[in-house]
Amino acid sequence: MISENFILQTLPPSQELETIAILKQLSQSNRYLAELKGTAKTIPNESILINTLTLQEAKDSSEIENIITTHDDLYKENILIDTKKPASKEVYNYAQGLKLGFEIVRKEKLLLNKHILIIQKTLLENNAGFRTQAGTKLVNSLGQTVYTPPQSATEVLDLMGNLEKFINDTNFSNLDPLIKMAIMHYQFESIHPFYDGNGRTGRIINILYLVLQDLLDIPILYLSRFITQNKAEYYQVLQDVRTKQDWEHLILYFLKGIEVTAKQTIDLIIKIKNLMQDYKSKVKTELPKIYSQDLINILFKNPYTKIEFLVNELGINRKTALVYLDKIESIGLLKKTKIKNTYFYLNENLIECLING
Ligand SMILES: Nc1ncnc2c1ncn2[C@@H]1O[C@H](COP(=O)(O)OP(=O)(O)OP(=O)(O)O)[C@@H](O)[C@H]1O
Ligand SMILES: [Mg+2]
Repeated sequence: MISENFILQTLPPSQELETIAILKQLSQSNRYLAELKGTAKTIPNESILINTLTLQEAKDSSEIENIITTHDDLYKENILIDTKKPASKEVYNYAQGLKLGFEIVRKEKLLLNKHILIIQKTLLENNAGFRTQAGTKLVNSLGQTVYTPPQSATEVLDLMGNLEKFINDTNFSNLDPLIKMAIMHYQFESIHPFYDGNGRTGRIINILYLVLQDLLDIPILYLSRFITQNKAEYYQVLQDVRTKQDWEHLILYFLKGIEVTAKQTIDLIIKIKNLMQDYKSKVKTELPKIYSQDLINILFKNPYTKIEFLVNELGINRKTALVYLDKIESIGLLKKTKIKNTYFYLNENLIECLING
């Protein structure tokens, strides 16, 4: 429990943060992050990784809220927006918020409060904005209040202004960007500026910050799975800063998460790349007349391929596109299925990578 008199301090923290333990872990985390950035460049079309990994992250991140979606629902959702089920709608909105945030950061080279507001609005589908009414509390699983964030609209705005500066103004603090990411996550969750969606928005901000800092070209390092798997510790490290000013544990937690997740993502990308290579050689040898690299790329941009994708991207007519996809199915690379009068060609090998990768 935290005393009623707790006052959330502005950033940067006054304490010395670059301890030996942190510096050691930092070099590991930076090393694997750089390797991930390089590995991602070996996939020919960036939308392949953005689409597939965003969807995976959307599912993992929404699980923290106990919104469990089956993979099947999830992949259908990605394509069949009209069959929205409430649970997978949250996942879909998360993926949209993430992509929108990435477009903003890539274009603006900034991550301002107005952008954070847009992201949260996309997630929650409402216009509530920052909190203006008192009453928000964080509770544990027993319903006990563990922390009361700033209550007044002015406090929320002031602290968000300070956080905005910490995120965007490089002269404001010269800490390593990965250390800053951990600090800003703590601060964002502690300000808790929204009535809902603070966790999800905070996790999106993490990844966007890595892109903003050029540590990644595209948003592909997702900590949500690590956080879900280490959730009790996640809550604990946030609380320990509040109760004991224990920044070290918080920073080490996030740095470790970056290392573990970067390694997993590198392995996953290599798996996807090898799979693409297999598809390429199989289509090239068995269906040389229809082969093109663009065709292979389309099969990996989504877990499902539709006839329209080929029509739009290869400039062929529907009949030819259907023939192409049926041929690819006939050599065992896709599985044809019909949902509501539309044919979908599942890349089950890719789905398998995403589930187990
Ligand atoms: N018991 C707790 N101890 C520490 N932090 C907590 C606790 N409960 C919630 N939080 C923080 O608040 C966030 C949840 O806030 P909110 O419900 O607004 O966001 P959400 O996106 O709907 O939820 P979630 O993060 O669970 O998906 C958590 O991710 C965490 O950062
Ligand atoms: Mg919530």
